Amino acid sequence: MVKKAAKTLFTCQACGYRAPRWMGKCPDCGAWDSFVEERPSAARGTLSRPGSHASNPPVPIEAIEIETETRLRTGIAEFDRVLGGGLVAGTLVLIGGDPGIGKSTLMLQAIDGLARQNLRVLYVSGEESTRQIRLRSRRLACGSSNLLVASEVEVEAILAMIEELRPTAVVVDSIQTLYSPELGSAPGSVSQVREATVRLMLAAKRTGVSIFLVGHVTKEGAIAGPRLLEHMVDTVLYFEGDRNHIFRVLRAVKNRFGSTNEIGVFEMKDAGLEEVTNPSAVFLSERPAAAPGSVVAASLEGTRPILVELQALTAGASYGTPRRTILGLDANRVALLAAVLEKKAGMPLMGLDLFMNVAGGVKVSEPAVDLAVAAAIASSFLDKPVPPGTVVVGEVGLTGEVRAVGQAEVRILEARKMGFTRCLLPQSNLERLPAPEGIEILGVRSVSEAVAALF
Ligand code: TYD
Ligand code: MG
Repeated sequence: MVKKAAKTLFTCQACGYRAPRWMGKCPDCGAWDSFVEERPSAARGTLSRPGSHASNPPVPIEAIEIETETRLRTGIAEFDRVLGGGLVAGTLVLIGGDPGIGKSTLMLQAIDGLARQNLRVLYVSGEESTRQIRLRSRRLACGSSNLLVASEVEVEAILAMIEELRPTAVVVDSIQTLYSPELGSAPGSVSQVREATVRLMLAAKRTGVSIFLVGHVTKEGAIAGPRLLEHMVDTVLYFEGDRNHIFRVLRAVKNRFGSTNEIGVFEMKDAGLEEVTNPSAVFLSERPAAAPGSVVAASLEGTRPILVELQALTAGASYGTPRRTILGLDANRVALLAAVLEKKAGMPLMGLDLFMNVAGGVKVSEPAVDLAVAAAIASSFLDKPVPPGTVVVGEVGLTGEVRAVGQAEVRILEARKMGFTRCLLPQSNLERLPAPEGIEILGVRSVSEAVAALF
């Protein structure tokens, strides 16, 4: 009998789809030229083998003790909040972001915060030499003797370090540089990244060491190669922002130990990342006075209200199909609101170019900013500014009705704190709200009512 030759498989580097031969286009995710030849590691049995038994036998649920889980704080309040109030032992956290956004800087500052509390921490870089890390640490003014650094790419070696040192937390920068010689494929390929993540996850669970994985993000916004990683880790944080802006937003998109949609805001300075404790003030700092097209919305990010400035510009389309260029907002949502304005407020926007932007390079995805988006478009279209000191809050439905939003009170308090004097609010929210002092509340039922109240 002829023994079968070891098979090679071709794996899509974008989604992990496997095929026996090379293909130009992935049938699963549609990516072009994404297949790379990989040799799968020796097949592991998925079903239990005869004679095997569970190492962790099932127990009755009431018999499980709930230790009051202790969370470690890095001392960077914005970071701790995004983690859900601190770091839980034995978690695997993935930090994704564009190259150069500040992931390595953030991680070095965060684990230095742990090292300062006399906890042993380890920073393993596959991208920089230890000397480069030292240079960075000097710039960031961190460097406690509890902070150990290593330059390493081999997974086995990193696992051995974890086993031997048993640090409280480890940073692996980055997952794409990790390499296991047991697999035939190149570093950064899907099978290497997946294998490395599985091993680090098992190590984290077994030893109780918390591991941060840094991952680069592709142009399309997915963590390079594998979305697959998101399922394997406990927490996924994205570090986003425009490299040309100084603000960086750390966002939790998955968290087994806390709420998602929590954000932390940072500013990139000469000596590293600095927390922004009052983001509203920062995002509104450059707001033009009485400019048509500029409207302030009270958005909620996780538990935290943030005031952002939305800007709209409508202009006569030069030729052909009008352009819709939308930054920081959901383009479909904006198109829907423009259609509502056209139909319900009698504004012929269909033939006009429409540009929208959220000032400061942040992204807002909440429907509660709908009414503010509509108000910004209307303001630019009518070429009239909204009255000074006004904040606009409300979700808009397809018939032009303004619907209630969650946590209206928190939003109003933030607006009042920031010195706003008037708030446009859904009428249905108003009915359930204790009248707040120091800020005038105007209830509206529809988009046309809001337009009438503002302009
Ligand atoms: P870095 O953390 O290396 O990004 P990443 O790990 O996500 O690739 O940060 C890179 C950028 O940050 C770099 O362009 C320089 C800038 N930076 C500062 O402005 N101040 C600083 O103190 C540091 C360390 C970096
Ligand atoms: Mg880096």
